[in-house]
Amino acid sequence: MTKIGIPKEIHSGERRVAATPETVLKLKKAGFDVIIQSGAGDAINSSDAEYQEAGAAIVEDVRQLWATADIVMKVRPPEMNTDIGEHEANLLRPGGWLVGFLWPGQNRELIDRLAKRKATVFAMDSVPRITRAQKMDTLSAMANIAGYRSIIEAANYFPRFFTGQITAAGRIDPAKVLVIGAGVAGLSAIGAARGLGAMVRAFDPRSATKDQVASMGAEFLELDIKEEGEGKGGYAKEMSDSFLKAEMALFAQQAMQVDIIVTTALIPGKPAPKLITQGMVESMKPGSVIVDLAAEQGGNCVLTEPGDVVHHKGVTIIGYTDLPSRMASMSSQLYGSTVTALLQELHGEDGNIHVDLADEVVRGAIVLHEGKMMWPPPLPPAPPEPGVPTKSTPAPIVAAQAISQDDAKGIDPLLLVAIGVVLIGLGFVVPASKLSHFTVFMLAVFVGWQVVWNVKPALHTPLMSVTNAISGIILVGGMLQLTGNLNLTTILGAVAVLIATINIVGGFMVTNRMLAMFRK
Ligand code: NAI
Repeated sequence: MTKIGIPKEIHSGERRVAATPETVLKLKKAGFDVIIQSGAGDAINSSDAEYQEAGAAIVEDVRQLWATADIVMKVRPPEMNTDIGEHEANLLRPGGWLVGFLWPGQNRELIDRLAKRKATVFAMDSVPRITRAQKMDTLSAMANIAGYRSIIEAANYFPRFFTGQITAAGRIDPAKVLVIGAGVAGLSAIGAARGLGAMVRAFDPRSATKDQVASMGAEFLELDIKEEGEGKGGYAKEMSDSFLKAEMALFAQQAMQVDIIVTTALIPGKPAPKLITQGMVESMKPGSVIVDLAAEQGGNCVLTEPGDVVHHKGVTIIGYTDLPSRMASMSSQLYGSTVTALLQELHGEDGNIHVDLADEVVRGAIVLHEGKMMWPPPLPPAPPEPGVPTKSTPAPIVAAQAISQDDAKGIDPLLLVAIGVVLIGLGFVVPASKLSHFTVFMLAVFVGWQVVWNVKPALHTPLMSVTNAISGIILVGGMLQLTGNLNLTTILGAVAVLIATINIVGGFMVTNRMLAMFRK
């Protein structure tokens, strides 16, 4: 049985641990053996006894833990363990596996160390943010916590209520909060600030965020300048100088009005854009607070000190880089669940772990395969974006080109000819009464295929809900065929009823889950 080892985190101030007793239970259920270093859960108030009860074996000696585990599960990248005078990467057994935050772009020396040990390494920060991998999306899970916590930290320093009140002693205006960057962390900050009763406004260069911001009860600020911020894979792209200038003029105006600014602006792989100048900080009211979530990437505010709090002319600037660790038990729980989901992906039916490089989640997350550098993964082909006109080509032509290119690439022309011949042949043999049904069936297959493949992957989950309607039609059609006589038609009808029912029940479950995300 594959053995998973969970060491105590040694990074200074890190309170999280890669598994909680609940996620150990999940790992055991998935067929893994679990060993954990004694005291690993101390900072999240999970005792050795609780881990043992969940099925983990406790190991006292950290060297033994690293040496006997098939897979080591960590939160922070391996670093020097000063207690034993050994780098954690050197503790991994030769050919061992490691899963955790790695930030391979910034940690080349560490990756080289692990490569020398012929390690197989997966970076949770590199799991592609696609629909299928949502349950493994550690970055979103942590950013959600960071966004919430940023508001709690701001409230700690802000000398007033967030909510407005009218009391006998006078009127108190609600606090005004500006959120810059409405990604996962930004939206979570909006939700937390609204929950406390603040008036919230937000800005993001990606137009897709406008509705999301509005749906959370915040005001979306807009610029006159038109430039779309959506880059690859749903992330932001670097904006032009004129856009940055225009948005900074907007922030300069806002800084004089708002009490709290939360900045989360980030472009993956780039230093954070500097959006809040010293002048803007000085124009804020005394007692105002800035929380800079991009502190680790250099900060969005010029005065931010990563990991620290600074006070400048009455304004507090919070640059904490460990916000998820400040809510360690919850973040450990979510972290452990996302890692468990990735490990389940790697777990074969034979009970062993395998690397399937054809799996896009595995290919995205893998950094080293038996010591061989695998990062960065090849870029996935960009999906065609129907209805988005480009400057030089009108949209329908782009879509048509994308489809024909896909067809040309994906399907052998000989196969297409063979399918054509078979269809024409069928046209001769199928009775005339069935021919119209057959034509509708073929059109439905073609249209369905094109619709599904031209929908953005991010919308596949809502699409599943919509397919309920189509399945309903299939269900009625199937039921009409169930006449009581056992023949090919009734068998096909029964199969259609079965599959459509599975689809409908699945669709309702997905819809229910999606709605639950929006319910308070
Ligand atoms: P994300 O990539 O989903 O969001 C970043 C947002 O910034 C995007 O919506 C993007 O459109 C926006 N943006 C990019 N350029 C901008 C510009 N010039 N002006 C305004 N907005 C702009 O990232 P996510 O997951 O929401 O994380 C946000 C930030 O929080 C990141 O910097 C991340 O590293 C940080 N973070 C910090 C933690 C901490 O403890 N301090 C913990 C977790 C995340």
